[in-house]
Parts: sequence; structure tokens; C-alpha cells
Amino acid sequence: MPKTTHLAERKAMVDICRKMNASGINQGTAGNLSLRIGDKFLITPSSLPYDTMTPEDIVEMAFDGTYVGLRPSSEWRFHRDILKHRTDIDVVLHCHSVYATTLAVHHKTIPSFHYMTGVAGGTTIRCSRYATFGTQALSDAAIEALDGRLACLLGQHGQISLGKSLESALWLATEVETISRLYVQALTLGDPPILPDDEMERVIAQMKRMSYGHGPEPEGSNDVARPRGK
Ligand code: 13P
Repeated sequence: MPKTTHLAERKAMVDICRKMNASGINQGTAGNLSLRIGDKFLITPSSLPYDTMTPEDIVEMAFDGTYVGLRPSSEWRFHRDILKHRTDIDVVLHCHSVYATTLAVHHKTIPSFHYMTGVAGGTTIRCSRYATFGTQALSDAAIEALDGRLACLLGQHGQISLGKSLESALWLATEVETISRLYVQALTLGDPPILPDDEMERVIAQMKRMSYGHGPEPEGSNDVARPRGK
């Protein structure tokens, strides 16, 4: 039996999958996760409950679609294609979080009704057109909806969030779900006002400058506060 490679990364992936379900942003065996490893990637197997999944069950896949181990996620095409197209990220996380999917079943793009829409890198979080799960058509639709963004909704399906790390992808997926929930609730009072593009440009620039949401800001990036004792 060949030795399992990348054990630490596999363990971290199982951990993130379990967190995804424990936090309520995913249910059952829905959702999937991939992580770039050099010129290959690791991806969750198809239809295996996360609470019984072991690090050895994680599938190693090459960009030509060949793999070692269990049957990979039915969504391996969009994981492969996103990782190939987007050299700015190393993690693709897909889940069926309830509020994001509520908007996705109505094919609603999330506008900048709240400044946090900017966490996905633009003035909107787009919703892709519908395509059958597991198909190249869905992968093509996802690539389009993710253009210039770190997250998108998938029409009548769910959401995709990207990250440089497993933790940042989970963080973003949770933010997308929270923004979606706010938007669904805001819509019950009518169409909320939308922040203008020039304000969203400031928000997005500020988020980038501060690495917003990813821990204490790097020194020098806050123009008011100074660390104690300095
Ligand atoms: P897999 O179990 O094959 O990853 O499918 C889950 C899913 O969410 C399909 O979109």
C-alpha cells in the first residue's frame, strides 16, 4: 500500500469540511473542497459524509482529470478549472448554504446594498446561470461568474468561495452566507438602496489595504491608531 502524501493538508481539509457542516453553512454530503498542491490538487471524494471521512479518503487529482484514490467530487471539473484559471488562490470551497442558495434559486446577484459585498472583491456577488451539477457547462458558468471575484452564487444550486488558504475560503463562505441572509431580510422591507460604485471602490481598496477579516492589520496600514508603546 503506497504511503499517503500531504497528510497535514488532508487532515486540514477534513477539519474544514467538518467545520462547514458544524457551523450550518452546509448540510449532509453536499458541498466539496479542493486545495492546490504544486502541479496537482487534493479534492474531497464524492458523497462521503464528512464525519466519517478520513485524511486518506481525500483524492489526489492531476489537472488532466486523472486521480488516485476514491471517486472525486462530482464537481471536480469546476475545482480543476478554477484552480487552473485563478493562480491568485489555492482553495475552492463549494457549499449549499441556505440563504446564499435562497438567492441563487431566484438567480439574484447580490448588489452593494451593504459594504461587506466588497469582501468578494467587487461591487456585486454574481449569480451564475444554471447548469447541471458535475458538468463542464457548470464549470464554464462558474468561471464566468467568478471573473474578478472571490465568490459567486451558482444558479439554483449554491455558492463557491475561493481563498489563498483553507481558513480564508471558509471565512469568505461564511461571510457570503451572512450577506445573503441580510439581503434576503432587507428585501422583505423593499429594495434596499445601493452604495454608489465610487464608495465601493473606497471600501474594496480599504479591505485590500487592511487584509480585512484576516487578522490584525499589518503595521502601517491604519492611518489613525498606533500599537501601544509605539
Ligand atoms: P459531491 O459529493 O460529489 O462532491 O457532490 C456534492 C455537491 O454539492 C454537488 O454540487
